[in-house]
Amino acid sequence: MPAELSPIDMAKFVAARRAVDFVEDGMKLGLGTGSTAAWMVRCLAERIRAEGLRVTGVPTSTRTAELARDLGVPVASLEQAGWLDLTIDGADEFDAELNLIKGGGAALLQEKIVASASDRMVVIADAAKEVARLGAFPLPVEVIPFGWQTTQALIEEMLAGMDVDARAVTLRKSGDAPLLTDEKNHILDLHLKRIGNPRQLAMMLNQIPGVVENGLFIDICDAVVVGHADGRVTVR
Ligand code: 5RP
Repeated sequence: MPAELSPIDMAKFVAARRAVDFVEDGMKLGLGTGSTAAWMVRCLAERIRAEGLRVTGVPTSTRTAELARDLGVPVASLEQAGWLDLTIDGADEFDAELNLIKGGGAALLQEKIVASASDRMVVIADAAKEVARLGAFPLPVEVIPFGWQTTQALIEEMLAGMDVDARAVTLRKSGDAPLLTDEKNHILDLHLKRIGNPRQLAMMLNQIPGVVENGLFIDICDAVVVGHADGRVTVR
């Protein structure tokens, strides 16, 4: 165990370490993105070093690909790997039905494609990510740059009729410029405070021209490994 972890890093680390226990020799793995997923890549690299575990990892972002390569985790594209056994990824929020908000790290598109191409998706999260209702975390929506202002207006119009507690939509920036995802798209963050019907919202968002994908993961996650600051792990 790394020395001197902050309480939040301890929670992320123990969740990641437990999830990596699910990995078996020969597996093809989706490798998530974010600080919790980075712990998972480190724990996986440790098992590869210590046990000679053979796996193929499909990263969900350039950041994760770089980390995996640096640590000696074999990587392949999804095209090369085909169907995956297991994806392990973080989340920004999860509810009792294991629905998620993801995309805080702007990688939701590849994350959703990779998770959907896997037999199982296991989420790793610190306990603060568990919510009674999704929506306190702004919902990321990936949109193509062409006409993104119009896409934003169409989203705002659609939100007027939805069961949410707030309706602000903001363009995510990197410095002064619009943020570009790995797929060269933009992210609109939907500040909703509470999402009454995540399933309906996810479907309606993806019908709007210009929307590539939204950060609601419905019926995709199979289990959440929850890490606590005192080192305990619980599984949902
Ligand atoms: C990236 C994600 C991340 O998994 C999510 O933002 C959680 O990140 P962290 O583990 O750093 O809290 O969805 O797009």
